[in-house]
Amino acid sequence: MTKKSGLRATASAVVFALTASTAMADDVEVLHWWTSGGEAAAVGVLKDDLETKGVGWKDMPVAGGGGGDAMTVLRARVVAGDAPTAAQMLGFDIKDWASTTGKLGNLNAVAEKEGWDAVVPPALQEFSKHDGNWIAAPVNVHSTNWVWISKSALDAAGGKAPETWDELITVLDAMRANGITPLAHGGQAWQDATIFDAVVLGIGADFYKAAFIDMDEDALGGAQMVEAFDRMATLRTYVDDNFSGRDWNLASAMVIEGTAGMQMMGDWAKGEFLKAGQVPGEDFVCIRFPGTQGKVTFNSDQFVMFDQGGASEAQMAMAASVMNPTFQSAFNVVKGSVPARTDVSDAAFDDCGKKGMADFAEANAAGGLYGSMAHGHANPAAVKNAIYDVVTAHFNGEYDSATAAEELVNAVLAAQ
Ligand code: GAL
Repeated sequence: MTKKSGLRATASAVVFALTASTAMADDVEVLHWWTSGGEAAAVGVLKDDLETKGVGWKDMPVAGGGGGDAMTVLRARVVAGDAPTAAQMLGFDIKDWASTTGKLGNLNAVAEKEGWDAVVPPALQEFSKHDGNWIAAPVNVHSTNWVWISKSALDAAGGKAPETWDELITVLDAMRANGITPLAHGGQAWQDATIFDAVVLGIGADFYKAAFIDMDEDALGGAQMVEAFDRMATLRTYVDDNFSGRDWNLASAMVIEGTAGMQMMGDWAKGEFLKAGQVPGEDFVCIRFPGTQGKVTFNSDQFVMFDQGGASEAQMAMAASVMNPTFQSAFNVVKGSVPARTDVSDAAFDDCGKKGMADFAEANAAGGLYGSMAHGHANPAAVKNAIYDVVTAHFNGEYDSATAAEELVNAVLAAQ
């Protein structure tokens, strides 16, 4: 080979390498479980934002509320050596992936450049960092202790939003008397557990913390837990006969259509009401689960990046986008959640969103912020799944309340 042709060969190799790496940098493949109407609309906001930055979106949706199925698919892909670029992940799953696999990309470069430390509350950083390094970008904060009520069904039931457990039961009874399904629910373990978050918090914030975060045996098996299960059994009497297996967004649709009175669900449900063209205060009402005002059981959707032998440009661009304050406003307005950053204005949010942001700030300041058990922010997946099993078995009548509380202690001890 002459010197000249050797140079040419080298130059084309460089061009090829650049083209190849640019092609890789241009795309992100994102595994997520945002497949309902409202969720898909929120994904659209992210996808469009990335496209304006020249980052293409390869969609990897895995249906199944709460993300259990998505985590199963993710594990299979990573084991097969085919990790996606990025994945939606919750709470203790992030900690678990970071500490056991070493496969999560380090986001410190972008986090430092964009000052994440100063704007992400410590309760979220707890899940976004591992060994002091940023390994996840939090896109939002959801909370589980909400009730979504049809305005017309509430008006027909006396018009007053319930503030206590007893008032809640009065409204549910009135809705039943009016001939509708009082409580729209989908019988899936994570949905049962989502209601359980709110019921346990409603009995007492200290009790919630002792049972789910400290995993204290006395709290898990004591009189307050029996009472929590009794309340679940009471709520069970207000669901329709076809609740088993129903997806959460179909339960939302029952409230939207007015065939059911209310749904007890995290604020991703608001995304469904908005997608259907409904307006808070006019068509539906959002309240904190009675007895939990001022307290928040939260979960934060975060994106982890799988290490591809160093971070790709597209991964860094995605992390920066996810954390951009303008984007966090636009995305969360659609998603039903509130920004993960503390410096985003509430101006673009509807009344439920403004309330969600104020509640989060208030709970954060007053120590009333608790990780959601149902959505992986109170304890590791094995414990969470053990709690799910007992809650669902009880909800379906397999255990009475006293037995369920005993089983809860056994299940949590065995899972640790
Ligand atoms: C939650 C997640 C939300 C929403 C919901 C229903 O775990 O944080 O973003 O998608 O599941 O799928």
